[in-house]
Parts: sequence; C-alpha cells; structure tokens
Amino acid sequence: MSQNLVVLASGRGSNLQALIDAGFPIALVITDKENALALERAKKHGIPAEYINPKDFSHKEEYEAKLVEKIKEYHCTLVCLAGFMRILSPYFINNVNLKILNIHPSLLPSFPGLNAHQQALDYGVKFSGCTVHLVDEGVDSGPIIKQAVVPVFPDDTVDSLAERILVEEHRIYPLAVKLILEDKLTFQGRKVFVQKEGER
Ligand code: GRF
Repeated sequence: MSQNLVVLASGRGSNLQALIDAGFPIALVITDKENALALERAKKHGIPAEYINPKDFSHKEEYEAKLVEKIKEYHCTLVCLAGFMRILSPYFINNVNLKILNIHPSLLPSFPGLNAHQQALDYGVKFSGCTVHLVDEGVDSGPIIKQAVVPVFPDDTVDSLAERILVEEHRIYPLAVKLILEDKLTFQGRKVFVQKEGER
C-alpha cells in the first residue's frame, strides 16, 4: 500500500525539512501558527500546507476533528509531529486511527514535556540526545523507536545543546520514518523491535 505522510508543525520546521530532504511522500503539512516557517518550507516544495487556527474552534475536540478531517481528505497514512506544540488528546489519537510519531529533544523517559534542554542542563546530565517515539495518551511517553546520544559540556547553554541535538534529530527522524514505512518494526507492549533481513 502506498503511504502518505502528514506533518504537523508549529514553528521553524527543520525536522519537516529533514523529512522533505529524505524524499518521503508528504501529502500535507498542517500548522497551528500562521507565521510558522514550516508553511513556507512546504510551499517551496509544492506540498499542500494548511494553517488551521485553534482559536477558530470552541473546543479542543472540534479542532482535532478538523485535523482528522483534513488528514483523511488527503489520504494520509502516517502522522509525524515535528515541533507541534500541542498535546493531542485521546479523541485525536482514537479518531485518526494511524500511527503517530513524535521527535523529542531528550533521551526519554528523561525530561519529557517543555524545555527539555533546560531540564537536562539543570539536572547536570553528562549526556543527552533525542528520541523518536510513537505517540500514546501520555506526554512524550509512547514506545521508543530510535534514540541518539550527544555529550553535554560544562559550558553548554540551551542554544548550544539544542544545536548539537538538532543535528541528531535530523538524522534519526528519517531513519525512524523509513522503518515504519517499510514495515520493519514489531511492537510488543512498549517494546519495539527491528526485524532483521529475511525475517517474517
Ligand atoms: C525540535 O527540537 C523537536 O525535537 C521538538 O521541537 C523542535 C522543533 O524544531 N519537538 P523544528 O521546528 O523541527 O525546527
């Protein structure tokens, strides 16, 4: 079956760019911010891009119903969150009924939620990194597909650490998407296994 990605982003869209550059079939980009650079990136590559303003809806469910409607309209088969600054409710997860991937700039389960880089610096960890995981009903809590590690240096700032982690984000997000699109993963509870050549 052919696959179509929908990418949800709120801002800069550098992870969207990494997915575009990897050549994945992206059918639609959705943002919740009018000035998201992600919109420009999509348009530049001829990818349909829609700004859907949450303020136009009276409830979160109504907004999420619109997202689901768009995702179905474009026949998307995989949802990729790329800096989408909203927590999707169980309503969205159940109604979209597709795998949802997210990238988070820490080694989960450490430092979920907002300000992951600051959390890592405050804790004093010597290594941090990034995680691609499936989205479940918790915050940054779903099964882990890929992680990459970077060192944290004593003189790091949020910006210097974020920059080092971002390089790895752009590397592992496409790898994780490829594993999903090629149906190479098996899921057992929260554990994710990559099939070896010839398995299945
Ligand atoms: C990335 O650090 C990602 O891990 C986090 O939000 C940031 C988005 O950056 N979820 P970009 O918009 O992809 O450049």
